[in-house]
Amino acid sequence: MAFTVAIDGPAAAGKGTISRAVADKFGFAHLDTGLLYRATGRRTLDGTDALDAARSLTPHDLDADDLRTPDVAQAASRVAAIPEVRAALVDFQRAFARRSGGAVLDGRDIGTVICPDAEVKLFVTASDEVRAQRRLDELLGKGHETDFETVLSDLQTRDARDSARATAPLKSAEDAVMLDTTHMSIEEAVAAACAEVARKQ
Ligand code: C5P
Repeated sequence: MAFTVAIDGPAAAGKGTISRAVADKFGFAHLDTGLLYRATGRRTLDGTDALDAARSLTPHDLDADDLRTPDVAQAASRVAAIPEVRAALVDFQRAFARRSGGAVLDGRDIGTVICPDAEVKLFVTASDEVRAQRRLDELLGKGHETDFETVLSDLQTRDARDSARATAPLKSAEDAVMLDTTHMSIEEAVAAACAEVARKQ
């Protein structure tokens, strides 16, 4: 039976970690929908047209090692503002969401546009500073050279662009449960998300 968990929120709020943990605990499949936009954005950096890139994505593109860089994140957010690019990625996401055995999808518009009927909707947030610090730790851990101010300003640029776009902007669904992880440990955030899923199962 299909059971969909939609997890949305701004960049580096903890959606990925929470989604993977929920998927593990309940045996659901997980799709990080940001990867679709990152893979599309990455190909535009080589000069490929954004819509051609979105229409021809393969599973191999989603596995590329270099999707987590700041340049690719900004390119992702630019292509994500193009309505035709978003439209090209809808069917894949909806089919994934309704597969049998349950699915967790995380992104920006899962609860609002992709899966408005999801059984569970969470909107995960944290303060800008906490999100920037988490992303900084992640990037430094991978050997990128950067600093707090650069990461903070990148996140804020991306969130502003994602929130202001006309098509499927970053926003909470009216019926989503808000999860502010500013003062939470990973374990606490995961436990709160799992409790929500367990309540609806
Ligand atoms: O989640 P992640 O930071 O990897 O997403 C990269 C970018 O992809 C976001 O800044 C956003 O512009 C776009 N995105 C989107 N809708 C989604 C997931 C990601 O517009 N469902």
